[in-house]
Amino acid sequence: MTEIRNVAVFGAGVMGASIAAHVANAGIKVRLLDIAKTDGPSRSTIAIAAVDRLLKMQPAPLMHRRNAELITPGNIDDDIAGIADCDWIIEAIVERVDLKRTLYEKIERARRPGSVVSSNTSTIPLATLVETMPDSFAADFLITHFFNPPRYLRLLEVTAGARTRKDAVETISRFADLRLGKTVVRCKDTPGFIGNRIGIYWLQCSVLHAMEAGLTVEEADAVLGRPMGVPKTGVFGLLDMVGLDLMPHVLGSMAASLPKEDPFHAVFREPALIKKMIAEGYTGRKGKGGFYRLKPDDPGKAREAIDLTSGAYRATRKAALASVAQARKRGLRRPVRADRPARHRLVRGSPPRRRPAGARSSAERERAKILSDRVRAAPALHRRRRLSRRRPAGRRPAARRHQAPQAARGPQPLGEPVGHRRRRPVPRISQQDELTQSAIPADGR
Ligand SMILES: NC(=O)c1ccc[n+]([C@@H]2O[C@H](COP(=O)([O-])OP(=O)(O)OC[C@H]3O[C@@H](n4cnc5c(N)ncnc54)[C@H](O)[C@@H]3O)[C@@H](O)[C@H]2O)c1
Repeated sequence: MTEIRNVAVFGAGVMGASIAAHVANAGIKVRLLDIAKTDGPSRSTIAIAAVDRLLKMQPAPLMHRRNAELITPGNIDDDIAGIADCDWIIEAIVERVDLKRTLYEKIERARRPGSVVSSNTSTIPLATLVETMPDSFAADFLITHFFNPPRYLRLLEVTAGARTRKDAVETISRFADLRLGKTVVRCKDTPGFIGNRIGIYWLQCSVLHAMEAGLTVEEADAVLGRPMGVPKTGVFGLLDMVGLDLMPHVLGSMAASLPKEDPFHAVFREPALIKKMIAEGYTGRKGKGGFYRLKPDDPGKAREAIDLTSGAYRATRKAALASVAQARKRGLRRPVRADRPARHRLVRGSPPRRRPAGARSSAERERAKILSDRVRAAPALHRRRRLSRRRPAGRRPAARRHQAPQAARGPQPLGEPVGHRRRRPVPRISQQDELTQSAIPADGR
């Protein structure tokens, strides 16, 4: 099995730069290459700027600022020969099969035989990517699909092709597991693999439905975030994070590779507003802003959201949805019940129905009835005990009856009386939620 000592990443965008950072976090040297710029201060401007951005991003892609020193920025035209010393070459350029294939030809000429090449494609099947490539390349090629942000999201989808050698898959899976801390999930070579096969459809349906239902971006994200058990970025916040300009490519790629009868085709269209936003540079956090942005030239850095109908930015408004308030208190079933009386759809601002003070709910009435029936049916002695709530002589209280003896439970924490049960901290939805939520760069995009 090859040892991974040096890595190269092609594409210094949202994913490529962050993947390079995470490889550097494992103490590995990385070459980060992007297209050569002829009009900047250096031909490697794109990759140099990407490394600078890594130092400012939140949540931080680098575990320590000094890890940035392990990343060598460069450009493909001048520095591709350097990949000859790399054991793993990761391609993370724009989601276009033609551009990826052209790059693979360049990589094949420059790399050392036996080095592993992988693509971070979100949607393009491996068979399509290597269709025109020789066996020597295809044997070393696989898909390693990192999720955004790569340092924090543990899932790594790995896909091998019919021609991929087993050893290459094992080398990378082992390295990703042990050195990058990833949970490797092997996927079949299908469009979107596992996560995006579901995720892209979910995103697209949500965006279209929110627009058609006349929701604000805040309302859509409030419903499609925490109440659904996903990070509070919801849908529009997530699109800002991944980059709006990625969407036409992934949607097009899914449409090109999914069978005709797939339900995806019914939702495959690009809303005019999103087209306009991309054309004007509003590509999300990496651009001038997205569905959310920080007000330009505002020292107070006020947050703004786009109006999905007019396309104008306005100050963000907290979503006031009865369903979300209910979900926060009682879980996902509540929103359904809260909104059911109101024509089976979300009701903006309508308060939850309240019972008059002291009145019982139907469930409480039902429970009380069952209890009184049982008490009535119980033998007289048992009834007396139950009504007086007395403990039978010699029996331990319920909380203690269910505990093992102290010896079996091990030593008691200092300062706590024996038999006292510590309350467990209430688990948060997930640590990742918190991290993803705070992923707004310091520069406000
Ligand atoms: N953005 C996400 O959240 C995300 C998540 C998982 C996977 N991906 C996948 O990762 C890949 C990169 O996505 P991204 O969001 O980082 O894109 P991006 O647009 O942020 O970055 C792409 C980079 O590729 C460079 N590039 C463009 N054409 C090139 C070429 N011909 N040769 C070399 N470099 C070229 C660009 O200069 C840019 O720096 C895509 O395949 C995408 O589907 C993206």
